[in-house]
Amino acid sequence: MLVFPGQQISPAQQVAFSRALGELAPTAWVEARLDDQPDIFVIGNTGRALVSFAPADGSDRLEWHADHMYRNDPARASLLYCRQTPPTGGDTHFACMYSAFEALSPEAQAEAEQLHALHSVDLLPGGLKPANDDGAPDAPRLVRCPLVRHHPRSGRRALWFGSKVTVGIEGWPPDRARAYLDRLEAHATRDEFRYRHAWRAGDAVLWDNRRVLHAGSPFDTAQHRREMHRTTIREDHPVR
Ligand code: SIN
Repeated sequence: MLVFPGQQISPAQQVAFSRALGELAPTAWVEARLDDQPDIFVIGNTGRALVSFAPADGSDRLEWHADHMYRNDPARASLLYCRQTPPTGGDTHFACMYSAFEALSPEAQAEAEQLHALHSVDLLPGGLKPANDDGAPDAPRLVRCPLVRHHPRSGRRALWFGSKVTVGIEGWPPDRARAYLDRLEAHATRDEFRYRHAWRAGDAVLWDNRRVLHAGSPFDTAQHRREMHRTTIREDHPVR
């Protein structure tokens, strides 16, 4: 991930910069698209609805994910630009999944490499629920993906799963899968693999979703405003 502090960019400039990196994938949450620039996903509480990836249940358990993990064409990269930020809260956490994978024992690496994770949009946090590509907002849909992704450029391996968006492990009973994924998350999001970004207006952060997980954190939505603009760059390699 890269941090570009102190930027002053318009939505059109953000879209133009992002398009230079690849094809964009607008959010399926139509209400959260910026009117004049629908490739921009408005996250925070200044748009038509509250859009938050922070824990929705009041707990302090972060909801780690990679963008568009529940789609067959997940996001390759994301660019998040901060236009307004609350005085406290609303930080974004990032975790390196190369490091997390490489820190597993050889046996645990071999086990993880055999597994396929099942992702679904159903349990995503937030007030808005994205429609599936077929336009059916409530249709349950599972996307199957290797739990360990091979980065197409570096060849390195990265754990690839989310706290809520990953709902199971193929072929495993739900309880066993949940316990395994919880243990893996505790390992993968240890402090030494993490960076926490405390936003200032004008910060832009670009990251590689194939090897970095991220998670939002809460802020006082009654008292403060947070406005983040995200552009999302589509995967351009087969997911493996
Ligand atoms: C996101 O999950 O893409 C946004 C994270 C945040 O709002 O901090």
